[in-house]
Amino acid sequence: MPAIATAPVVDPTHAQPFYTHDEYLDGVERALRCATAYHAGDVTVDDATYDALVARIAATEDHHPAWQSTASPTRTVAGTGGDVEHSAPMLSLDNVFDEDGLRGWAARLHKAVGQRVAQYTVEPKVDGLAVAARYRGGRLVLVATRGDGRTGEDVTAQARLVAGLPQRLSAPVDVEVRGEVFMTDADFAAANEIRVAHGEPRFAHPRSAAAGTVRAIDRGYDVPLSFLAYAAIGVPDEHASTHSAAIEYLAGLGVATTAQSSAGMVVGTSIDEVVDNVVALGARRGELGFAVDGVVVKANFTADQEAAGYSSRAPRWSVAYKFPADTRTTTLLRIEVQVGRTGLITPVAVLEPVQVGGVIVTTATLHNFADLVLRDVRVGDTVFVRRAGEVIPEITGAKLDERPETALPFEPPAVCPRCQGEIDQSQKRWRCLRGRACGAREALLYYAGRDAMDIEGLGDKVVDSLLAAGLVTDPADLYGLDVATLARLDRMGTLSAANLVANIEASKLKPLSRVFTALGVRMTGRSLSRRIARHFGTMAAIQAATAADWELVDGIGSGRAQVIVAELAELAPVIDRLTAYGVTMVEPGSPALEPDAAEPGTAVLPLQRRDGSPLTVVVTGSVPGFSRTEGNEAVEVLGGRSSGSVSAKTDLVVVGEGAGSKADRAAQLRVPVLAGEQFAQLVAAHRAGKQKQVRQILRTVLR
Ligand code: IVH
Repeated sequence: MPAIATAPVVDPTHAQPFYTHDEYLDGVERALRCATAYHAGDVTVDDATYDALVARIAATEDHHPAWQSTASPTRTVAGTGGDVEHSAPMLSLDNVFDEDGLRGWAARLHKAVGQRVAQYTVEPKVDGLAVAARYRGGRLVLVATRGDGRTGEDVTAQARLVAGLPQRLSAPVDVEVRGEVFMTDADFAAANEIRVAHGEPRFAHPRSAAAGTVRAIDRGYDVPLSFLAYAAIGVPDEHASTHSAAIEYLAGLGVATTAQSSAGMVVGTSIDEVVDNVVALGARRGELGFAVDGVVVKANFTADQEAAGYSSRAPRWSVAYKFPADTRTTTLLRIEVQVGRTGLITPVAVLEPVQVGGVIVTTATLHNFADLVLRDVRVGDTVFVRRAGEVIPEITGAKLDERPETALPFEPPAVCPRCQGEIDQSQKRWRCLRGRACGAREALLYYAGRDAMDIEGLGDKVVDSLLAAGLVTDPADLYGLDVATLARLDRMGTLSAANLVANIEASKLKPLSRVFTALGVRMTGRSLSRRIARHFGTMAAIQAATAADWELVDGIGSGRAQVIVAELAELAPVIDRLTAYGVTMVEPGSPALEPDAAEPGTAVLPLQRRDGSPLTVVVTGSVPGFSRTEGNEAVEVLGGRSSGSVSAKTDLVVVGEGAGSKADRAAQLRVPVLAGEQFAQLVAAHRAGKQKQVRQILRTVLR
C-alpha cells in the first residue's frame, strides 16, 4: 500500500484569488469549457475541482470587481443553447459548502425579504441534468434540456421512457414541470449490462450515463432513466402559495417529485431546523439509491421568494448546500489481489490518494474479476472513484479518452496468490478451492503469537504438521487436541506434546482483549482490540453490538464499524466453539462489567481525568517485567489510552531502558515523563490497591 500522502483538499470557502487578470480570464475560459462539456454529458473534471475553480474566480472578483468578465460562471448559466426557447430562464443555484455558508445565505435572505422567513424547504439536490417538460391538456408535448438557461435542446423523443415523467397527467391541465433526469444506482448497473451486451463501453458514472442517454439519438436500445420534479410554472393559484404545495400538486398529477423520493422534502421553520435536516440528509446520502450532490434549501412561501428576487444567474431565495464530492477522478496505480479469511479472492484498486466524500481514499473495491474485465479498468487509467456515504469506495469506470497507450488489460491470477492452489471460478466471486483452509496457517500463527494468545510451542513447524495431518483448520480446533494425538506428529515427543497441550489449555485464561486480538478481525489492531474489549466487557456484548454501538468506541467510525460487524458474523462459528471450549470471553476490569464504576466522578482510575476520560500514554523502551504489549495493556488497566507516537496531545510518556527518539520528542514537547521502574511500581501499587502510593508516584510527574 502506498503511504497516505496528502491529497489535494478542495475547500471552496477559502479560495485563493488569481494573481493576474490574464490568469483570471484563463480560469473563466477553463470553467466555461468544463461547464459546456458537463451539460453535454461529458465530465472533464470532477465536481469538486470545478467548484474550486469557480470559487477562485469568485474570490478574484471580490478583490478586483473591475476584472469581472461577462462570461464568468458567477454571472452566467453555463451550457450550450438549443432550438427550444424556455418559457422562463432555467437558472442555476448559488452554492454553500458548510454551515456558516448556509447561515450567511439565510441572513442575506432575511435582509432581502425584510422580515423573518417563516418557512424553508429542504430537499435533495439530484445529481442529473435539468429538463423542462411542457404539458398541454395533460399531455406531454415537449421536453427540453436546460442548455444555456435561455434555450435548450428538444429531447422529447428520448424522454418518452423516463420514469416519473408520465406521457399523460391525471388531469387535463397546462403546466410546465421542471426537474432532474437521472439514473438510479440500480438502473446504472442495469444500463451498463445492456451497454456491454451491445458491445459498447460502460458508462463511467450515473450522471454522465443519464446525460448521454437523454441526448442520444438512434441508439438501438433503451436504458432506464428517472425524473424528479423540483419546480413548476403555471400551477393554479390555490396550490401556488408555497413551494411545498406546488410540489404536492405535481405529485397529485402523477409526476415524481423530490418530496416523494427516498430523500423526501422537509419544511422547517428556522435555520437551525434546516441545518439539522441538511446534516440528516447528508448522513443518509449513501442509502438513497440515487446520487445526490447536495441539499437544496428554498424559502417556502412564494411571497418571500418574490420579495427576495433573483441575481442574473440564480434565485436569492434558494441555495445549494453542496456535499463533499462523492465522485472524484484519480490514477489507478496498481491492482492487488486479496485473499480473504474464507478464501474469497478479490481485486482491489490501489489509487493515487484522493479526497472523496470528505476522506482520503487510497484503495477501492473492484468487486470481482468478471466485473473488472467488463469495466475494462487498467493500471495507469484515470478512474472515477465513488464513495457514497460510508460505504466502501468503488471504481465506477475509467476515462477511456485519457487511457495511456501503454495500459494493458489486467490479467486475473491463474492460481490462488496465497497458497498457489486452484481457484474456483464457477461463481462471480472467485474462491480459493481450499476455502478457509487456505488462510489457516496465517490465522493459527497469528492466534498463537506473543501479542495474541501467546501459546508457546505453537510455531511454524508445528502448525505446518498440524495442518498436514488435517488436525486443525481454525483456532478453535486447537482446544480439541490431546497429548496422544500430538505425540504421533513428526518430531513431537510425548513431553513436548504434553507441554503444548498445557500451554493451549493455559491460553483459555487470557482476557477477552487477547482473544479478540487473536481472532485478527480486519481493521482492528492490538490497541483497538483492547479498547473494544474494555468498552464492551464481554464477547456476547461484542457479538450483539450493532454498527451504531460500534461507533461509540473511541477510534471507530461508521466505515470501520460496518467492516467489523461483517467480520464478526463470519467469525461467529469459531467464536461459538472457542466459547464452548471455555476460552475466557470477558475483560476483567472493564467498566461495562461494573456500570457504577463508569459514572463520571466515581472511581476514577489513576490514568483517567476527573471526568473519566483517559490520559494518552506512550510507553517506549523496555519496562522491567513487561513486554511491549503488556506495557500497553497495563496503561489501559490503569484507565489510560495507549498510543504509539508522541505528540503535543500526549499526556505522559513512560521511558524505559533503551528508549530513543520518542523520549527525545517528549523532552522537546515538554510532555511529562515517568521512568520505566516508576511505571512498574505504579502498576504494582494499583494492583495491590495502594491508592496513596499510586497518587505519590503520579504526583511527581503529573500536575
Ligand atoms: S431548484 C430556480 N431544486 O441543480 C431554481 N434544483 O446547481 C432552480 N437541481 O440547475 C433549481 N436538484 O438542475 C432545484 N431539488 C432541486 C434540485 C435542483 C437538482 C439542479 C438543477 C439546477 C442545479 C443548480
